[in-house]
Amino acid sequence: MKLQYQLNAAFAALILIVMSITAFYTYSLIMDMLIQDERVQLQERAVLLNRISQEQDASVRLSQLSDLVQNQNYPLLLFDLSQEEVLFSSLPAETAVDWMNRFEDELASEEVWESNGESYVVYPISFAPNSSQRILVMATPLDDLQIVQNAFAQRMIRVIVIGLLLALAVSYFMTNRLVTPLSRLKQEVKKIEKRKFSEVQPVKSSGEIKDVEQSVRHMAEELERYINTQKQFFQNASHELKTPLMSIQGYAEGIRDGIFEGKDAERGLNVMVSEAERLKKIVNEMILLAKLDSSEDVYQPSEVNLAELTDQAKDRLYPLANEKGVVLHSSSYHKFTSYVDPERVLQALINIIGNAVRHAETRVDIISNISKDVLSIKVIDDGSGIPEDLLPQLFQRFIKGKEGETGLGLAISRAIIERSGGSIRASNNEDGPGAVFEIRIPKRPNPDLS
Ligand SMILES: Nc1ncnc2c1ncn2[C@@H]1O[C@H](COP(=O)(O)OP(=O)(O)OP(=O)(O)O)[C@@H](O)[C@H]1O
Ligand SMILES: [Mg+2]
Repeated sequence: MKLQYQLNAAFAALILIVMSITAFYTYSLIMDMLIQDERVQLQERAVLLNRISQEQDASVRLSQLSDLVQNQNYPLLLFDLSQEEVLFSSLPAETAVDWMNRFEDELASEEVWESNGESYVVYPISFAPNSSQRILVMATPLDDLQIVQNAFAQRMIRVIVIGLLLALAVSYFMTNRLVTPLSRLKQEVKKIEKRKFSEVQPVKSSGEIKDVEQSVRHMAEELERYINTQKQFFQNASHELKTPLMSIQGYAEGIRDGIFEGKDAERGLNVMVSEAERLKKIVNEMILLAKLDSSEDVYQPSEVNLAELTDQAKDRLYPLANEKGVVLHSSSYHKFTSYVDPERVLQALINIIGNAVRHAETRVDIISNISKDVLSIKVIDDGSGIPEDLLPQLFQRFIKGKEGETGLGLAISRAIIERSGGSIRASNNEDGPGAVFEIRIPKRPNPDLS
């Protein structure tokens, strides 16, 4: 069942229940009020009758009495309890005797008396002054009151029906406002399901639905970006793997068919070995990247002083810097410990400083700063800088410049730094030539000690 119908049905059921309960109580209350009102009138008439009965002149008394009884058609009963005799009655004889007999034991305290399936609102009084044993009973058939009550019930039903229709109209209007953006959102989600990301349109909505709508659109953008990255990754990966494989195949076939002989064959074999090495490196790095994304055991953290790690990375790159004639300078700091994997973080530092040394003209600076329990390491070189078109996707797999190698170093570095709870970003030096890489690593306590 559609959500809108469910909401409307629930709303209508609620209104119906509330109105029915109200109607039931009002209906009972109305009957009580009518009975009380009728009894007041009966009492007034009883007083009048009493006055007539005290009239001295018997003929006047009789004529007034018969006027009162006949003109207004009151059911009336007068009986004498001591003599067990009905003195006067405008009710059926059977009812009169029945009431007289049951009066003392049962009926005296009741407001509604019954006889032969008929109910009457009654008002009994002692018909003084002649005798306290004489009881005058004024009565009104309950049917008369029920006519009034039924008229009230009919109106009540009309009010309930009108109320229900109005409630349904309001409910339809409100649920429509709620459900329309939801069904539009459903259509947009269907487009995402069919991967038609560019066709996803904003949906006019408010409140929580707007939040959901924004999350859905954000999710679509992220999903599109992710799928494109994956596509690019597979294209790049197959290209990177194909190039060395083709070279190995070419030389292997050449040597087998006797095209390369002697020195040429030797050179071919050397190329095959180095290309096989390159393939091994690419595959190993790809496996490492995949593991960094998912597996636990590839990253084994311990309490590490990052000042020592930076010095180690610098020491390892001295030979390369010397060979290139590049000065490697670092600002020293005493200690900054964090709970990270030393091997992996060293690998990330070596890759970033190594890139800087490879691209630098004369100098690489490693500037470290500690503020608010976060260590910032900036690696600045004076080389040609990062090509602008490469910058947005620099940390993606197989993205590399003209003189790049495999293009996996920065992707691995970012995965390691993020796994260490930190972040990394790259930019070009604003004050001069060259690139700036900034790594930020927070102080993470050893969870086993805390
Ligand atoms: N300091 C830098 N100056 C200029 N360009 C840089 C610098 N560092 C990185 N790059 C560019 O970013 C690309 C990607 O770097 P990355 O370390 O990911 O791969 P790589 O160095 O080419 O290969 P490897 O996977 O062996 O590290 C490089 O090919 C280079 O074009
Ligand atoms: Mg590199």
